[in-house]
Amino acid sequence: MSKIAIIGSGIAGLFSAIKLANHGHKVVIITKQRVKDSSTNWAQGGIAGILDKTNSKAKAAHIQDTLQSGDGLCNEAVVRDVIERAADCINELVSIGVKFEKNQDGDFKLAKEGGHSERRILHAKDATGREIERALSEAAKLHSNITLMKNTLAVDLIQRHHGEPQSGVCGVWCFDQTTKQVITLSADAVIIATGGVGQLWAKTTNPSVATGDGVAMAHRCGAAVKDMAFIQFHPTALAIENGRPFLITEALRGEGGVILDLGGLNLWKEHCEQSLTFDTEPPLPEKYSFTLAFSELGSMATRDIVARAIDQNLKQTGAKHAFLVTSHLDRNMLETSFPNMQSHLDKYQLRLGYDDLPISPAAHYIVGGLDVDDFGRPRTTDGIGIIEHLYAIGEVACTGMHGANRLASNSLLEAVVFADKAARHIIDNPPETVKHELPAWRADGLNILTEHSPIVNDLTMLKDTMSSEVGIVRNNQRLNRAARRIKLLEKEINIIWKSSIPSRQIVELRNLIQVANLVIEDALNRSENRGLHYNTDLI
Ligand code: FAD
Ligand code: SIN
Repeated sequence: MSKIAIIGSGIAGLFSAIKLANHGHKVVIITKQRVKDSSTNWAQGGIAGILDKTNSKAKAAHIQDTLQSGDGLCNEAVVRDVIERAADCINELVSIGVKFEKNQDGDFKLAKEGGHSERRILHAKDATGREIERALSEAAKLHSNITLMKNTLAVDLIQRHHGEPQSGVCGVWCFDQTTKQVITLSADAVIIATGGVGQLWAKTTNPSVATGDGVAMAHRCGAAVKDMAFIQFHPTALAIENGRPFLITEALRGEGGVILDLGGLNLWKEHCEQSLTFDTEPPLPEKYSFTLAFSELGSMATRDIVARAIDQNLKQTGAKHAFLVTSHLDRNMLETSFPNMQSHLDKYQLRLGYDDLPISPAAHYIVGGLDVDDFGRPRTTDGIGIIEHLYAIGEVACTGMHGANRLASNSLLEAVVFADKAARHIIDNPPETVKHELPAWRADGLNILTEHSPIVNDLTMLKDTMSSEVGIVRNNQRLNRAARRIKLLEKEINIIWKSSIPSRQIVELRNLIQVANLVIEDALNRSENRGLHYNTDLI
């Protein structure tokens, strides 16, 4: 049986690990913090999918909404395949122990989010990811074929023949954050499941572990990237000064929540008061939403459109945030459906169903990533092959499922389906065993970095540059300015990198800079505005 190293303990890493372990493979999961530290653990809205395999109409509608959201750039074959496989993979999650919410008849309760024409999202209240992470990590911890390495940071992949991408990989150098040593881990195949890159921006819904390590590591080994410019900004992150931009799930809009600016809010409230005077029905807030000028679906349009609408509105009005209004909704429903959100809002004395929530967009998801084939194998930069014995699954990969803009709640689905496909591919094509001794990490003449403050300053500069120059609405001048600044940062970090023993801060900053360059390069190379990429010079 093979030894498989999996980097990452979110839905993609854990699901593939359990599958491989069930087939007798020895799996080592490397994860940089605690097992649960992942975007998966923070997912709120849920996982989209049609469980009734015979319901062709429902599947066709899911396919149609995904293609529509992807703005013409989805790989339709991938979309069809993922949606077809949704039922089997979601049922497998359930059999591992994930408890999605059910109604009194025992059927799964289904939610709706922006861009979905029907209710099709399975969830566990408003903390779906926490439930998925709980069930998968419990199963992984109990499995005798799985070893979990916490606080272990994958630094670089080890190639079978150095400098020859197609020779494949045979291990990972990892930084053990407890002993502060770089260890050499040999593996017959490596699965990268390292998640996203949200930490490139000052305001992000992502956890601190989302630093693009997997993209950077594999790209250094000759893996191609794709669609890096398609960064999804979630329209509704809580906008409270000095507070974490906690996600206000789109499912709240699915239940009728509406985005208004201050002008719309005041007008709506005025008309509600007038209706009291005249004893008429109070108006609903949606018709007062500025988002209607961008799409007839208003607050329920796809994320690219709603985030851009808010961005433009904030720039025009000078306001710091817009509002998500829920005071017209059933308070009992809000309380029972969104307990996780309410408990977070409690910190700020805000109440769903009463208070208007201050919101603004925050970096949320990278649609692009490592360019992979149908089994999750990264393609090489020369475009003619794949990197043997390497797989990339989950948010780190670009499969073509999301096109130019991901449909809400399709990420967990894509991650679990591709985790399944990659695991099956390894099971059906077991990699040859690595027999030779692997090289140790270069160690000669390296210093322990005693001062990290320059790195912290560089990180702040990087995030500020990406936030101001590479946001929702772009232009060539700003993109070029960002490129120049980041090149300078790259030079600085390379000097430190070459002379220092790795630390988590250096490894992550080096990776973030590399990914920032890839995002900007792709943005500058695009000749049209599509989905999440919007450059005013292309209008
Ligand atoms: P992750 O779950 O992010 O896991 C990545 C793992 O890799 C982590 O364990 C991390 O520590 C580890 N790692 C990273 N780098 C290294 C390294 N160098 N060495 C070792 N370990 C490393 N999508 C939906 O479909 N539905 C939702 O409702 C939804 N809600 C969301 C809410 C929030 C707040 C966020 C942030 C995202 C949400 N998304 C949602 C997106 C979705 O959660 C993610 O795309 C998905 O969970 C990614 O899964 P993953 O397994 O690829 O990565
Ligand atoms: C949300 O709950 O709004 C996030 C869903 C997603 O990112 O798919």
